[in-house]
Amino acid sequence: MMTTPELQTASLAPTTGRELGTWKTIKATVDDEIAWVVLNRPEKRNCMSPTLNDEMLQVLDAVSLSEARVMVLTGAGEAFSAGMDLKEFFREADALSPAQREITQRSAFEWQGPRLRNFSLPTIAMVNGYCFGGGFLPLSSCDIAITADDSTFGLSEINWGIIPGGNVPTAIVHTMSLRDSIYYSITGETFNGTKAAEMKLVTESVPRDQLLTRVLEIAEVLKTKNPAIIRVTKETLRHMRSMGWSEAENYINAKFAEAQYIDREDGRAKGLKQFLDDKTIRPGLEGYKN
Ligand code: COA
Repeated sequence: MMTTPELQTASLAPTTGRELGTWKTIKATVDDEIAWVVLNRPEKRNCMSPTLNDEMLQVLDAVSLSEARVMVLTGAGEAFSAGMDLKEFFREADALSPAQREITQRSAFEWQGPRLRNFSLPTIAMVNGYCFGGGFLPLSSCDIAITADDSTFGLSEINWGIIPGGNVPTAIVHTMSLRDSIYYSITGETFNGTKAAEMKLVTESVPRDQLLTRVLEIAEVLKTKNPAIIRVTKETLRHMRSMGWSEAENYINAKFAEAQYIDREDGRAKGLKQFLDDKTIRPGLEGYKN
């Protein structure tokens, strides 16, 4: 067994928040309308076990029922996530019946994919370190991803003899270029945060000591924006790549009407009035005031 001289176990998340519940593998708090969801198995580099996957489904419900307006997903210690748990999710699943295996897989694919992609709040992945294999799925499912320049990313499945599974292929080709997706999947070569930003796998990469500050800055901006419009905007954009122009026009028109219908702030009327009548804002440069 390799030894780590100084194992970091804390996360960058603020420690002042209200706990949303008690889980074995996740810590979830809300602090000033920001939910901090921390994958909390630092000794296992936050790899995703069946327990963690089941618990994440509960955590996402707890966050959506809370007062949070933004959710940040991060990891405790040195990793964001070392991917799926090779012992508990793969090796131990070999002994399960096909039906049991399917149930185990379902919770993983569900939270990492559709539940996170379609989450009611805007989501930020704060990628604090290692991100491997299956970790690319929650990473891509978050709306925004900010990492540290010295984080390490890798599509390492090739290194232990499987193809990227669990919808990782879809996640990477929707986020990275096809060229980069193939190159990194068949070589297993790692890359750092700076490179991840260059490849557009993440939104931005910053020096490690600025990671939390940058994430907080973005979260504060998101808190000032109309939650209903954020939700419908992200839902709409996520469908664009798989639609032709005609279907997209039709879908966007329907989502446009839905957004006005569900917007409790009546942002459109406020924005138009404050710009056209009151002349108190210029929407090109700032948002309307509630
Ligand atoms: N599945 C299961 N266990 C994992 C794991 C994973 N994906 N990643 C790390 N661990 C466990 C190790 O087995 C070890 O457990 P132990 O202390 O009981 O022996 C512990 O976490 C620490 O890992 P270690 O390799 O000693 O840490 P490190 O800091 O030297 O290296 C990594 C970190 C992430 C580079 C290395 O753990 C690794 O390569 N993990 C696998 C990553 C991977 O290929 N994931 C793809 C899954 S699809």
